Amino acid sequence: MRVLITGSSGLIGSALIRELTASGHQTIRLVRPGTQAADDAILWNPKANLPPAFSNQEIDAVIHLAGENIAAHRWTPEHKARIRESRVAGTRLLCEALIKLAHPPKTLVSASAIGYYGDRGDEILREDTPAGSGFLAQVCREWEEAAGLAAERGIRTVILRNSMVLSAEGGALARMLPVFRKGLGGPIGTGRQYMSWIALDDVMGAIQHCLAHAELSGPVLMASPNPVRNSEFVETLGKVLKRPTLLRMPGFAARLAFGEMADELLLASQRADPARLRTSGYPFRFPELRSALEHLLTH
Ligand SMILES: NC(=O)c1ccc[n+]([C@@H]2O[C@H](COP(=O)([O-])OP(=O)(O)OC[C@H]3O[C@@H](n4cnc5c(N)ncnc54)[C@H](OP(=O)(O)O)[C@@H]3O)[C@@H](O)[C@H]2O)c1
Repeated sequence: MRVLITGSSGLIGSALIRELTASGHQTIRLVRPGTQAADDAILWNPKANLPPAFSNQEIDAVIHLAGENIAAHRWTPEHKARIRESRVAGTRLLCEALIKLAHPPKTLVSASAIGYYGDRGDEILREDTPAGSGFLAQVCREWEEAAGLAAERGIRTVILRNSMVLSAEGGALARMLPVFRKGLGGPIGTGRQYMSWIALDDVMGAIQHCLAHAELSGPVLMASPNPVRNSEFVETLGKVLKRPTLLRMPGFAARLAFGEMADELLLASQRADPARLRTSGYPFRFPELRSALEHLLTH
């Protein structure tokens, strides 16, 4: 298969290029200005509204992961605008270009996030659960709607509602590790908020599962079947690292340190049930947190 990937320099994209290449697929990267020209790269500039410079390429599938990093900066109005625009306008730009191709791809796999649901306490969240409220929920709704343009034109469109992707190389876990390795980690707020998570290996497996299963379209929750409360996540991480996890960060301190992001990323509760991966027979490699963390951190 010839697979076009956006956001290919990111945590998921860079692993996916390796994984798909190893499985015998041909990958093409959609890259932004500043990236070195290469045979496997096509240029686009979502910031300047410049569409991909396609030249009659035949593409079987597109995996769209691009977007301004959500947790890299405090949420100033400017950063929030970049988070939103890079996803909503970027997705629209990509879909408009794909539907104009002489041979549009059969499949678009487009990222979204579990932030779609907002803060939901102990409620079990599935793909058909309605969106919640808050900044991220609004962004995710608009991001998913933008991908709908491809679906309307007959491209099978799978929306990946990604939960926290676990990797030692990047993302939330990698940011937590220095603190936890020093023995300075602990629960955040009450620690009762649910954290939905998925090992990077399972993101790779589940994306390939979505590519292979033509009956799948629409939202797919990318989460392990075993979400845990923040207190359990912290305790398990401490056990795997053999470090204490007694230093609780109260909610007000998280808000002082991280601003608005604290409520939506650290204190919000999202208890996902990956119903569509489950019912379509995806075999999770790491369904349990303890073995996922042991694999990532002790191998
Ligand atoms: N990792 C997670 O835990 C997680 C959880 C929920 C949702 N997601 C979503 O899943 C997608 C992929 O996740 P990831 O962890 O791989 O993200 P990531 O590491 O932040 O990578 C995203 C990629 O998007 C491109 N990008 C960055 N800023 C951009 C901008 N302003 N406009 C357009 N493109 C930009 C970059 O790739 P290029 O330089 O190659 O263009 C970057 O490497 C993201 O959209 C993310 O929001 C991830």
